Amino acid sequence: MKSKSGKYITFLPDNRIVLVSQKDQSVLDIAVRESLPLNHTCGGFGTCGTCRIFVREGLENLPPRNEVEMEMAGDRGFADYERLACQTEPIDGLVCEIPPKA
Ligand code: FES
Repeated sequence: MKSKSGKYITFLPDNRIVLVSQKDQSVLDIAVRESLPLNHTCGGFGTCGTCRIFVREGLENLPPRNEVEMEMAGDRGFADYERLACQTEPIDGLVCEIPPKA
């Protein structure tokens, strides 16, 4: 019998379920690998804000924002569910939505 092993996260709106590899440091790493339409102008340094995602499930299990993300979230008035993919740990069961491009 095959059992589910490993960590998975889901990207909306396409409901794309992706296995998280050990090398994935952030949600952005996965989005890039999967060629998902998520911008990352600063290359993952937490300074551009273009990798913003909406966390739809699993927010309560995420570690709190790090200092870099905290600063951007404060400057831009992010809601709790708005996170930077490059600064967000890809925890198992996370469901995040890639917002439509502005
Ligand atoms: S890629 Fe620039 S803030 Fe995440």
